[in-house]
Amino acid sequence: MQDYSIAVVGGDGIGPEVVAEGLKVLEAATSASGAKFSTTDYDLGARRWHATGETLPDSVLEELRGHDAILLGAIGDPSVPSGVLERGVLLPIRFALDHFVNLRPAKLFPGVASPLDVARVAPDGIDFVVVREGTEGPYVGNGGSLRTGTPNEIATEVSVNTRFGVERVVRDAFARAQARPRQHLTLVHKHNVLTHAGHLWRRTVEEVAAEFPEVETAYQHVDAATIFMATDPGRFDVIVTDNLFGDIITDIAAAIAGGIGLAASGNINPARTTPSMFEPVHGSAPDIAGQGKADPTAAVLSVAMLLSHLGLVDAAGRVEAAVAADLAERGDAVRSTAQVGDAIAARL
Ligand code: IPM
Ligand code: MN
Repeated sequence: MQDYSIAVVGGDGIGPEVVAEGLKVLEAATSASGAKFSTTDYDLGARRWHATGETLPDSVLEELRGHDAILLGAIGDPSVPSGVLERGVLLPIRFALDHFVNLRPAKLFPGVASPLDVARVAPDGIDFVVVREGTEGPYVGNGGSLRTGTPNEIATEVSVNTRFGVERVVRDAFARAQARPRQHLTLVHKHNVLTHAGHLWRRTVEEVAAEFPEVETAYQHVDAATIFMATDPGRFDVIVTDNLFGDIITDIAAAIAGGIGLAASGNINPARTTPSMFEPVHGSAPDIAGQGKADPTAAVLSVAMLLSHLGLVDAAGRVEAAVAADLAERGDAVRSTAQVGDAIAARL
């Protein structure tokens, strides 16, 4: 029997609502297993910023480090200037805890509608995973503005790509590809224009490929990748890409695999020296916050990823199966956030 401590950051908008359902399902999936979960709530996001001016105090970051995993709802609110919470809360957690693998599966569950004619474009269904680099690229905040507000204004946002950072995420993606039946890895970048970073990524993939002879590799420019994702997603198995390209293509991936309400993610430090963080890909959806309308499925699937990361593979599989069963019977019925959580939990 093992005890696990989970830091819970509900965050903004619909974040707390969907996280509550995720925790409901976590409890239902593990209560009989002997594994014990204790949760600690952290108040981060718009409420805290308005009340105190704080985003992520050092003391909170240190406390987060002490947990086995973090479950996050959503960060971002229109009442706070754009970027303050994203750059003040979410990204500092990803960076400080070295979440260099941002893992985003795209899987079309049976019974779920896709905007694509799936039988035609992907006869075996949609089932791929994007390994988005999580600590570098244009996200690092290496930029600046000159002559702000004048006609001569200049803004830079420099993408940082280190051999160390690229190599570790590429190796992780290869290992994931090797463990999957199709053993296929696609690098998505833009090396015809981003000749510095693009060539670093391409060379690194070519070199690391030697360690994984079973894995077949392919390359696509990011613009072309968006076409194939919308017309032929069956060609993808594992995709590795930089932080910003990964952000963009995982929204498309979510859209073709049943919608952003179903897309889960893990911000993972595979070295396990810090807690990994699991969160729905969707944002805080302030327009429907507090109305019990949000679909908590992405948060529940993020809990499955959390369980799997902690080694509770059996419980993770049962959560995924319960979600699959619920999705298969969902139809067009309108249910509240809590009703969806209850229905999934009841299957466990
Ligand atoms: C995501 C989000 C974040 C990102 C924002 C909120 C900083 O869009 O998790 O995909 O760009 O990574
Ligand atoms: Mn995003």
